[in-house]
Amino acid sequence: MRDKLEQIKRKAMEAMDSLNNLDQLEEFRVKTLGKKGELTLVLREMGKLPPEERPVIGQLANEIRSYLENELSKKTAELKNAALEKRLAEEAIDVTVPGKVPALGKLHPVTKVLNELKDIFLGMGFDVAEGPEVEWDSYNFEALNIPKNHPARDVQDTFYINENILLRTHTSPVQIRTMLKKKPPIKVICPGRVYRSDAIDATHSPIFHQIEGLVVDKNITMGDLKGVLDVFAKQVFGPETKTKFRPHHFPFTEPSAEVDVTCAICHGSGCRVCSYTGWIEILGAGMVHPKVLAYCGIDPQEYSGFAFGMGLDRITNLKYGIDDIRLLFENDIRFLKQF
Ligand code: DAH
Repeated sequence: MRDKLEQIKRKAMEAMDSLNNLDQLEEFRVKTLGKKGELTLVLREMGKLPPEERPVIGQLANEIRSYLENELSKKTAELKNAALEKRLAEEAIDVTVPGKVPALGKLHPVTKVLNELKDIFLGMGFDVAEGPEVEWDSYNFEALNIPKNHPARDVQDTFYINENILLRTHTSPVQIRTMLKKKPPIKVICPGRVYRSDAIDATHSPIFHQIEGLVVDKNITMGDLKGVLDVFAKQVFGPETKTKFRPHHFPFTEPSAEVDVTCAICHGSGCRVCSYTGWIEILGAGMVHPKVLAYCGIDPQEYSGFAFGMGLDRITNLKYGIDDIRLLFENDIRFLKQF
């Protein structure tokens, strides 16, 4: 029996050395010291021993048990510690490593210029009005004094949804919507997307953007129009900028003008951008036609107004020196990144 006990101890010591995780240790404990463990089984047989040997063997067995228990708990502590050290090492965070910089998006150049233009007009007391891109034929044309046989109505230019509904070809119908809803004084700009079935090239896109302006009140004159557009041009293109009004024709204004600004690139001396004229056309404008006011229930005897409309994409291109309108719609990230 004594030999058996010594053997259990020796085997246990050997086995313990090769244990290297907590599961194995637990398995070992059950196998050796558990209820059905080797040591326990040996002790069960103590009854068969002669009485005088029992205390000696009993004491030896207890010594072995407490020795093994002690070793086991030392080993357990060691392994637990090693596991903790390992985890701490693995989970250590180097707080000095530089963070990952998130890729930031940017505003589209057209949006940037739109924001800038809005600021300029808000600074002059304008509100922003918007209208739908899918529009009534009557607001897009009829109300703006564009009769049925006008060339602007040509199916070549207009995307029709049906006989009465189309994709607006300009932002001018927002003038109509504004005047139908609200009585003077009116002072709004109407930015938005417009559509024309033009062939695509460097200066034409079937989708583009306009900003409409409308001021209606008592005693509004062409002088007010010139003043507003002059301030606007100087703020967008620089304080040296001059404006020039050339007589023109629009069905919805009378009189009408096209407005040029001195070329921001050559300041008037002539360059490729201004086709060596020193001037660049930027918008159409005029005094709101009495028929347009009357259509909206505003008495042309009492009120007058001016209106203007400009291409936002064109102004964007002029400001940034972009020579092809298609770049604004292709969404090539290499292009957009530059703004
Ligand atoms: N709607 C015109 C166009 O798309 C631009 C325009 C010209 C608007 C004169 C106006 C204006 O309000 O008075 O070509």
